[in-house]
Amino acid sequence: MPDLTGQVMIVTGGNAGLGKETVRVLLEHNAKVYIGARDEKKARAAIEELREQTGNEAFFLELNLANLASVRKSAEEFLSKEKELHVLFNNAGVTCMPLDWVTDDGYDMTFGTNVVGESVFDCLWRTAFNLRCRAFPLHKAPAPHYPGKQSTTHDKHPRVIWLSSLAAYISPLCWDTFKDGPARRKAGTHSTYQQSKLANVILARQCAKRFGHQSLVSLSVNPGTVQTDIMKHATDKDKKVSSLLYNFWPVETGVLTSLWAGTMPEPIKHNGEFVVPWGRISDPCRPEAYDDKIGNRLWDWLELEVEPFTK
Ligand SMILES: NC(=O)c1ccc[n+]([C@@H]2O[C@H](COP(=O)([O-])OP(=O)(O)OC[C@H]3O[C@@H](n4cnc5c(N)ncnc54)[C@H](OP(=O)(O)O)[C@@H]3O)[C@@H](O)[C@H]2O)c1
Repeated sequence: MPDLTGQVMIVTGGNAGLGKETVRVLLEHNAKVYIGARDEKKARAAIEELREQTGNEAFFLELNLANLASVRKSAEEFLSKEKELHVLFNNAGVTCMPLDWVTDDGYDMTFGTNVVGESVFDCLWRTAFNLRCRAFPLHKAPAPHYPGKQSTTHDKHPRVIWLSSLAAYISPLCWDTFKDGPARRKAGTHSTYQQSKLANVILARQCAKRFGHQSLVSLSVNPGTVQTDIMKHATDKDKKVSSLLYNFWPVETGVLTSLWAGTMPEPIKHNGEFVVPWGRISDPCRPEAYDDKIGNRLWDWLELEVEPFTK
């Protein structure tokens, strides 16, 4: 990985699991990193632990993806502090949530967190930074928080990295399951996770298509199956089945693919594509992932849903 001095990054869900390990490596390479987290106590504990390990300090950014007003506040808070964002790791996510749980805005908890919340956050920073103007000034002037230093590696391409999953291969989108109702109850919690991870791939593609001409690079990533707390809300049966089905890699290995996508030069040539372990460009997880008809429909749906929070 290159030295990241002068680059500002956000890792959503940076207080635990893959997110925390991602932050650790970014700090080791001198990036300025914000941890987007809903639980300040957990985030501060992670910041302290990472400071002891790396000698560098991450910053806390309050962010609850299951509450769109909070997402907006979080983006505003970030924008009041920084002039640029070089890489956004849309990493936070949940799975196996009880079906009785919905977000504060009434979406399925999994789809609402992994897709709707992440999309609003992504939309807000893009809109606010007006990528067209903002992608380039770093080469001309040092970033404000690193007086005298300048990134030697920033390649004029802000990036968004969408954490998807092996689950993205399994289910098509079922539009009437995103909010509560009989279809969602029938589909079940595994299906909404699978759909959310396919939606991450679709949105990465759509972002690249819509903002690539403004130099944005947007990639989706399957990090592999990794030892984290992601199954914390799963039933004992689900935990047992997944332990039989998968080999779980340590987080140090699990972050390789998203770090490759977020920091290395090569993926810039693959804007909008799907990256799989350990840092390889793959065919799309499903044909509909790159289908513009479906991509446009999802984009339009999200725009309409989140309009009150993104204006
Ligand atoms: N682990 C795997 O095998 C695997 C495989 C494929 C894909 N992934 C993807 O990788 C990403 C990271 O997962 P992980 O395995 O590292 O899981 P994890 O250890 O459970 O970490 C998930 C992170 O997301 C945060 N989060 C959850 N809901 C949130 C909300 N409403 N607002 C803000 N933050 C929220 C969590 O915060 P709290 O600590 O407050 O809960 C935590 O920091 C997810 O998108 C997941 O789908 C993981």
